[in-house]
Amino acid sequence: MINDIIKISHEAGEIIRNGFGKSFGIEYKTNASNLVTDIDKASEKHIKDFIQKKYPGHSILAEESGELKKDSEYLWVIDPIDGTTNFAHGLPIFSVSIGLQKNNHTIAGVVYDVMQDITYTAEKGSGSFSNSDKISVSANNELSHCVLATGFPYNIAENPENAIEKFTALTKASRGMRRLGSAAIDLCFVAKGVFDGFWEIYLHPWDICAGKLIVEEAGGLVTDFKGKAIDIYSHNILATNGLIHKKMIGIIDKV
Ligand code: IPD
Ligand code: CA
Ligand code: CA
Repeated sequence: MINDIIKISHEAGEIIRNGFGKSFGIEYKTNASNLVTDIDKASEKHIKDFIQKKYPGHSILAEESGELKKDSEYLWVIDPIDGTTNFAHGLPIFSVSIGLQKNNHTIAGVVYDVMQDITYTAEKGSGSFSNSDKISVSANNELSHCVLATGFPYNIAENPENAIEKFTALTKASRGMRRLGSAAIDLCFVAKGVFDGFWEIYLHPWDICAGKLIVEEAGGLVTDFKGKAIDIYSHNILATNGLIHKKMIGIIDKV
């Protein structure tokens, strides 16, 4: 099935690339920061049409159209564009993220970095790859030498869970903090050892399903802010190389 996921993420990526920088319809979801474009919808429709044709018995959870429940052990978890704000503003950092679960465990994940044309893949037990190269997390255990990443939820104006204070504290403790705007790419950068750690509050299953497996298969650790195991429905996520996990928890959980 991984080849199907790769194929469909590339086809969705083609739709997105063709729409990038052109004019397209934009609507607000919960507020003026939370956008959906016609291209998000077209990407999602293309992916769903493929799944429904080839795997008609499988369940689907997709960001823009919600849940399609079937009596199946398989669930496809889809983010048609992760990084919609970047896409809508002409910033070329966004991805297609597709995870596949069997009996509530993620067995395969693909994150396609559309503009860099890099495909991150993982299958449970088989490692993680950036195109055809095997990838692994960094070996950095000194927080002051680490580059971290985060993102903010669409209600950040209300500063839920002291996200801004956490950002400040971790920025001071590390070499630097980045905010790319695609959680799925952030997770792949942890898997690749580009970032040493990533944390964010209020994420959704489609943001993390594929990326979580890609980090874990690259040797990293993914938990909540207390170090507890999470599933894709957990909103708070801490993904690191494992070595700095406790040090980050010591800061993130105290602020
Ligand atoms: C968003 C991105 C962003 C993160 C937001 C997400 P979307 O997803 O992953 O990096 O900070 O919390 O909602 O809305 O572009 O699919
Ligand atoms: Ca997303
Ligand atoms: Ca999205």
